[in-house]
Amino acid sequence: MSFNRIAPYFERLEKIVFNNQMQCCRTAFLSELPCVKKVALIGEGDGRFLVELIKENKFEKIHYIDSSEKMLELARKRLQKFSSNELSLVEFFHCDLMSESMPCQNYDLVVTNFFLDLFNEQGLKKSISKIAAACEETAIWLYADFQISSGLLPRVRSLAWMKVMYVFFRVVAKIQSRSLIDPAEILESKGFQLRALREFQRGLMKAELRQRI
Ligand SMILES: C[S@@+](CC[C@H](N)C(=O)[O-])C[C@H]1O[C@@H](n2cnc3c(N)ncnc32)[C@H](O)[C@@H]1O
Repeated sequence: MSFNRIAPYFERLEKIVFNNQMQCCRTAFLSELPCVKKVALIGEGDGRFLVELIKENKFEKIHYIDSSEKMLELARKRLQKFSSNELSLVEFFHCDLMSESMPCQNYDLVVTNFFLDLFNEQGLKKSISKIAAACEETAIWLYADFQISSGLLPRVRSLAWMKVMYVFFRVVAKIQSRSLIDPAEILESKGFQLRALREFQRGLMKAELRQRI
């Protein structure tokens, strides 16, 4: 799996297809987060969420973890353009969570935006277990992703979207999964209970705030 090829076009493509809805979904709970020490952004792509997170000014250290060199480069450049003063706040890790461990432990907040949908069931269990094992006892997990909407017509519409998107990403990025798996059960088995949920694009996307309690 590699997002290097698609990285330079990711933002444009997303805006053509979904306008600003994915970014609204990523940032849905940002203003409601408490101040925390250590944050891990996992599979975080080209850095648009990172800049919004930094504007909140609530975090002491951010670890930016991605397996694509191109995505990491775009995120680093975006951060530099936004504010070079903030560079010391962020540490970038070129890390493939399928084959490597989390670079550090004791995270208070972990964020997976449009990341968990890349994995098949085995990959999903593996990645969630690794992330959860690196979290503090009361950690927060922010999660944004696609979902299969409820109701007949929205369901048909979302299934059609998923089909198109999975074929596209299997070709351009060689992603593991062929269909969307809801990670709720695995997240709950690791103690991350749902605290709040918001839906976007008529239920095609959801943002969840989960916490270990
Ligand atoms: C669909 S993109 C989403 C990017 C971003 N989070 C967003 O909301 O647009 C998935 C991201 O996960 C990264 N990724 C895929 N597999 C990974 C893995 N095994 N370990 C770490 N990062 C991975 C990709 O390089 C890419 O940046």
